[in-house]
Amino acid sequence: MSYPFQIKSLEEYQQHYQKSIQDPESYWAEVASHFEWKKKWDKVLDCNFTEPKVEWFINGKLNITENCLDRHIKAGKGDQPALIWEPNDPEEHHRVLTYKELYFKVNQFAQVLLNNGVTKGDRVCIYMGMVPELPVAILACARIGAIHSVIFGGFSAQSIADRVTDAQAEYVITCDGAYRGTKEIPLKPVIDEALVQCHGVKRVIVLTRTRTPVSMIKGRDVWWEDEIKKVETLGNPKVEAAEMDAEDKLFILYTSGSTGKPKGVVHTCGGYMIWATYTFVNVFQYQPGEIHFCTADIGWITGHSYILYGPLSAGATSLMFEGIPTWPDAGRFWDIVDKYKVNILYTAPTAIRSLMAYGLQPLQGKDLSSIRLLGTVGEPINEEGWKWYYENIGKSKCPIIDTWWQTETGACLISNLAGVTAHKPCWATLPLPGVQPLLVDEKGNEITEKDSDGYYKGNLCLNGPWPGILRTTYGDHERCRQNYFATYPGLYFTGDGALKDDQGNFRITGRVDDVLNVSGHRIGTAELENAINMHNGVVESAVVAYQHDVKGQGIYAFVIYSGTLENEHLTRQDISLTVSKVIGAIAKPDKIQFVSGLPKTRSGKIMRRILRKIAEGELNQLGDTTTLLDPLIVDEIKNNRI
Ligand code: WTA
Repeated sequence: MSYPFQIKSLEEYQQHYQKSIQDPESYWAEVASHFEWKKKWDKVLDCNFTEPKVEWFINGKLNITENCLDRHIKAGKGDQPALIWEPNDPEEHHRVLTYKELYFKVNQFAQVLLNNGVTKGDRVCIYMGMVPELPVAILACARIGAIHSVIFGGFSAQSIADRVTDAQAEYVITCDGAYRGTKEIPLKPVIDEALVQCHGVKRVIVLTRTRTPVSMIKGRDVWWEDEIKKVETLGNPKVEAAEMDAEDKLFILYTSGSTGKPKGVVHTCGGYMIWATYTFVNVFQYQPGEIHFCTADIGWITGHSYILYGPLSAGATSLMFEGIPTWPDAGRFWDIVDKYKVNILYTAPTAIRSLMAYGLQPLQGKDLSSIRLLGTVGEPINEEGWKWYYENIGKSKCPIIDTWWQTETGACLISNLAGVTAHKPCWATLPLPGVQPLLVDEKGNEITEKDSDGYYKGNLCLNGPWPGILRTTYGDHERCRQNYFATYPGLYFTGDGALKDDQGNFRITGRVDDVLNVSGHRIGTAELENAINMHNGVVESAVVAYQHDVKGQGIYAFVIYSGTLENEHLTRQDISLTVSKVIGAIAKPDKIQFVSGLPKTRSGKIMRRILRKIAEGELNQLGDTTTLLDPLIVDEIKNNRI
């Protein structure tokens, strides 16, 4: 497969960019013409950011799995590896699925879904470990037009229940358990606990992975393997790919915002497919035959777009890894690179920082010469991490792509194109064609003056749509409008702050709203505080981020506790466990400080700015505290800082 829309030089990038802005409809129509459609669209774009309403490739009909599977087989690439699976335990046999084999498995499982009553438009929640059956389950949903919603394996029963309920899902696919380093993580028991609250779920399909005993409820739960056998006795019929409208929902993925519970970001079949594929081909500059290794979990958007849909639609070979970077030892990634001769390594700054801490010994004897490019995603990378990655992994020869994007944007929006446009350490650099970033002040005025450090600095917004933009938040369009399109009318607001230089390069500095980014995972402070407040001794709490060497941001909680604290250490553990139960272990606070009050304004608003400074240890830069209801509380909090 060649990629007619692959940009090959800086000049070409500039031409593409110009064209995409001046005449977006013809630009994207040309890109879309290189995909497989069951029926061509009538109109390319209909968009306004007020409602908001965004529609791409109107009345076009397609099925994304035909683009990810059938067309490559038709083109004679059926025997090429589509997915390589490296298990948690290096002693266990790895698996390779060619395009033909993946096609076969997806068809088989699509038939299982049909047999179990799943129909087009139904929501299916998927809570599995990183096993090859996870992509099979996802693609099988897409094959029959069911809307998948993958839930990351680290979320608690309560978080699952919230998502299943919000999505009104009637079907769940899970595993008995998952392997993570030396640990065996139960999954089905967590689903059982979640589903006590979700009476609408009709069927749970359970794959065997860890062979741990699980309860199987009569009439509701079935084994994956038994269902496959039934399809085999039917002679494995081929499942017709459902005809989907370009704007039909492909998936829902829940993500945290600054208020309330996580929201279900909705992506649609046509625009998302084009955007995931276009960015994969351009940002990574994928060359046929290369091995692409994205270390993300498929439970996050990065896994959706750059393990599955982007690479498969481009006919690439995508490597998925079940384990963790530090087990059996901190050389795990390098062993994988060496074993499969990986060409593209795409990971998160937090992983780089944690591996950096082990020094260079884990790299000894590992052949990394196959690597052509390195990538990062999920959070700002620090200079030290960038340099370590560049020098020791890329041997100072490989470009690093710093890809900025969000669950809501579907795939990358700001990034250099590997080896085509220049990298700049810690800068995401230039917008992709179709992407129009701008920086605004609090009132929404574009920043036109540079700061004293020579950069434009402001809140990052996007003007005009790209095909992969979210269409709505599931079941609550008003929430989508409020969250993204109401702060600055006419613009999409990202929630991030950024710098821009004179050449038009962007550097993302981090969230400017009440969202934390812990090890690349988004967690809302409101969500965290609600979870902490669920502990029966907690009266009130306030959560802020502080700089953490490995996680990027750590979680610092200030907690007002009722009654006497007999054992602070134990109470901290109790509160952490409560958060684990309500959200998941990823949200456990790193520090909990008990306080007798919180710094509030006279109108009762918590002054997080002051708490942030205290958490960071900037005790002499708290600013004006005289407007506080009780200025003395600040001294108490400062003195007892952890
Ligand atoms: C942050 C992950 C700096 C940012 C794909 C954004 C980044 C949030 C970068 C989205 C980057 C992502 N540099 N910050 N290259 N990439 N972010 O939805 O704050 O899990 O808003 O999507 O991660 O996180 P999400």
